[in-house]
Amino acid sequence: MKNIVKITTCIMLTFSLGAQVYAVEGGNPKKGKHLYKKECKACHSKGDSGGEITPMSKTMSQWDRFFKNDQHKVKPEVFEQLSEKERLDIQQFLYDHAADSDQPQTCG
Ligand code: HEC
Repeated sequence: MKNIVKITTCIMLTFSLGAQVYAVEGGNPKKGKHLYKKECKACHSKGDSGGEITPMSKTMSQWDRFFKNDQHKVKPEVFEQLSEKERLDIQQFLYDHAADSDQPQTCG
């Protein structure tokens, strides 16, 4: 019974979000995943100083806000050393798999 609820929730999320216009476009999520592992995981794996961060740590709009406004202000140098394109790729990857995206990790 629990599983049915979970699957139904996933399907409903897929449909409701499928109709939405994506706010992030033009980034390459494959490159973003690679960059995320290389540039972010160093400080954001379990037990690290930054705490564990995965795409599901935030919703799509929270990721948008993080990349537009916050820009990792706790440690600005992290974003400063990335090119605009690299940041967009990472943003795309995190956004595509955010907690309320149609492909969050728990549904995969
Ligand atoms: C040099 C280490 C370091 C690197 C590299 C790094 N971070 Fe961080 N990050 C931190 C620290 C430290 C914090 C603050 C954690 C806290 O407040 O507990 C933080 C905070 C964050 C937060 C805020 C957490 C929240 O709860 O809102 C996000 C999101 C984040 N980082 C994403 C990233 C992303 C994306 C990258 C790769 C582009 C990255 N970080 C790379 C050290 C790092």
